[in-house]
Amino acid sequence: MNFSFGTGHASTAKADVLVLPLFDTDLTDKKNPPSAWVKTDKKMKGLLAKTAQQEGFKGKGEQTCVIQTHGKLSVGRVILLGLGTRAKFNAEVLRMALGRAIKAANKLKAKTAVIQLPGVRELDAAIQSTVEGSILGSYRYDKWRTTNKDEKSAPRVDKVQLLLPDGVKKDKSMDATAALAKSIAEAANFSRDLVNEPAGTMTPTILAEQAKSLAKDSGLGLHIFDRKKIEELKMGMFLGVARGSVEEPKLIHLSYTPDDAAAAKRAPIALVGKAITFDSGGLSLKPSDGMLDMKTDMAGSAAVLGAMRVIAKLKPPFPVHGFMGACENMPSGNAYRLGDVLISRLGKTVEITNTDAEGRLVLGDVLAYANELKPAAIIDLATLTGACIVALGPWVAGAFGDDDQLMWNVLESARSAGEDIWRLPLTDSLKDVLKSDVADMKNAGDRMGGSITAAHFLKEFVGDTPWVHLDIAGPSNVNKDKGYMSKGATGFGVRTLVEFIRRRTAELNAAAADETIAPDEE
Ligand code: BES
Ligand code: MN
Ligand code: ZN
Repeated sequence: MNFSFGTGHASTAKADVLVLPLFDTDLTDKKNPPSAWVKTDKKMKGLLAKTAQQEGFKGKGEQTCVIQTHGKLSVGRVILLGLGTRAKFNAEVLRMALGRAIKAANKLKAKTAVIQLPGVRELDAAIQSTVEGSILGSYRYDKWRTTNKDEKSAPRVDKVQLLLPDGVKKDKSMDATAALAKSIAEAANFSRDLVNEPAGTMTPTILAEQAKSLAKDSGLGLHIFDRKKIEELKMGMFLGVARGSVEEPKLIHLSYTPDDAAAAKRAPIALVGKAITFDSGGLSLKPSDGMLDMKTDMAGSAAVLGAMRVIAKLKPPFPVHGFMGACENMPSGNAYRLGDVLISRLGKTVEITNTDAEGRLVLGDVLAYANELKPAAIIDLATLTGACIVALGPWVAGAFGDDDQLMWNVLESARSAGEDIWRLPLTDSLKDVLKSDVADMKNAGDRMGGSITAAHFLKEFVGDTPWVHLDIAGPSNVNKDKGYMSKGATGFGVRTLVEFIRRRTAELNAAAADETIAPDEE
């Protein structure tokens, strides 16, 4: 999808569709109605307002109304897009709305669209979410459909003009904002493709190949370690989980290093993603219903891969590493058993009480490995527990960690990127649940507070390094279309990670600027 900016008036737009975002007060505003609405309606001889009224369109959030122009305008259809109340407006509201608009436009087989940007204070953020919402909303996973070819080859909106609000002049930074938004949304869609791919064709080996082509295209460093190397690294927990599958495990390590030598020496950020390409539960086998979506158990690693793709373009002034321990969790004659004791890379021993608590085992070894780089911070993303979905519902991710500063930075990044993440407590009261009679700890506690005990387990492997664990079991995958999301993978985490890296970049650059002016000031 390509984007350009225009300063013309909505009423003279030329395209297949014109998208008009409207607040719930806009249609009844007698004093100061938006000129895009007033003039376009006038040219339509009042038919916009009339149809809107007949259809019950009031500009409420979630409302969309398609109107034929019958040759009265130079666009085939007008799509009225409800934004809800101004008081509740934010970038995510606009992102979701644009997702709806593009879905509607694609249904109309439109190829070109003119989108009126709403008159809001933070225009830069509005441009970013308009571009992101449009690209995310046009996502489809139809790789495996052979029937319904019409739908598959149907045209999609690929040329978009963004109309600046009245009186706003175009400036260069707008192109940069749109370009960044485009690369973020495309990376999220890439992540969705990886997660939606069936486990049979998204094996650890294929995931590693994806990382390889990403590294090649983006100029990132890459190490892929096979079973032999993972044995040398003494990752006994990772190997335990991987044992039951005929698929070879892969430890994937992507790295971005700044060109500048001083910047390259800064402490890195480590991103770690859960990469269970299929979670059957192992010998603690899941029931069929619970197993159905378990190709998505590598969504954490897909988010890390998507983020690394953008980070390679952003070129932050510090190194960023991505780690993924990829394997399948399968039952077999060679599978790890209940009661087995595994020896982790750190030497800590773990009694297996449930082979379905596999993610923490693989992550534990990979987190310990990532920690050896002495990173300034580690953020891990994992579809770790069903309990987190019970706690927060399917749309919200849980965040765990003791470092308040890092936690705050991650939560603020998420808020600004429009991803819903809430902190849950790493309460000491649930630590004892993992005490084992035979080993240093066991891998699963009881049901109550299950996502907290899982986080406690991970914490054992990160030492004192500032660390945040994101349990994305819920929002990585949705079961209905909503806004820019469609049934299946969401690419959750990509936007938050990229925003986190951007904020850290801005912070470091500001600090560096302070240092250079300081001597003159004295
Ligand atoms: N991959 C699952 C968690 C999950 C469940 C993700 C549903 C997405 C949707 C994880 O490996 C798992 O099986 N966790 C168990 C832990 C339990 C055995 C302690 C769970 O949540 O039931
Ligand atoms: Mn599991
Ligand atoms: Zn799992």
